[in-house]
Amino acid sequence: MRKPVIAGNWKMFKTVEEAVAFVDALVPLVESSAHCEVVVAPPFPALSSVAQRVKATNIGVSAQDCHWEKEGAFTGEVSCEMIKEAGASHVIIGHSERRQFFGETNETVNKKIFAALRAFLVPIVCVGESLAEREKNETERVVGEQMTKGLDSLTELQLSHIIVAYEPVWAIGTGRTATPELAAETHRFIRDTVAKLFSRSSSAAIRILYGGSVKPDNIKGLMAQPDIDGALVGGASLKPDSFAAIVNF
Ligand code: PGA
Repeated sequence: MRKPVIAGNWKMFKTVEEAVAFVDALVPLVESSAHCEVVVAPPFPALSSVAQRVKATNIGVSAQDCHWEKEGAFTGEVSCEMIKEAGASHVIIGHSERRQFFGETNETVNKKIFAALRAFLVPIVCVGESLAEREKNETERVVGEQMTKGLDSLTELQLSHIIVAYEPVWAIGTGRTATPELAAETHRFIRDTVAKLFSRSSSAAIRILYGGSVKPDNIKGLMAQPDIDGALVGGASLKPDSFAAIVNF
């Protein structure tokens, strides 16, 4: 049984004050939502305050990125150990915005996954093709390579702590969601890839979230697909009501 995960990626939104007000409003809306894991990913400055605030609740806290070293002369970077100490439980790795604007590669994704596991954080590893790649029929090649290189050298035990998020880049922030069937096709491909790289049992156990314009009105259709195990939500995760509506699909 794969327990669904609904994670909100706030990106570069919300001050500390706004973040705390958000979780205070969210807690009562999702406190009886035992059917899934709920995670919010605030920007770094709000991590610790949000983590304090949700301590005794069913809400987990995620960072949006990390560095792979424990510490060092890496101006502007934050290590997994620091994220863990701030009270977070998860870290998003390889988001397409990091890949597109900040030089994230499959190789750095791989290093960051090992760093997250070292700090006992759950990595939420993002994969997905661009519009040009989808139109050239390259979805499986691109996503396959992101999976193979990103998950390189992991043991099955390490893999069992990982969550994958499939986010077609053309569906992020565009209002253009992949249809549940289209998303499910790639989710199946990802699950098959895990079976090839690791084993059938790892493939059956791994949770694969969908991301890209997930909203209260399309979550149900997505969750009806057997290979979709939850969602990574951007825009619609910024308001407690809409995020709670997605959690309580
Ligand atoms: P979106 O973002 O829901 O606003 O499309 C998803 C994401 O980038 O994780």
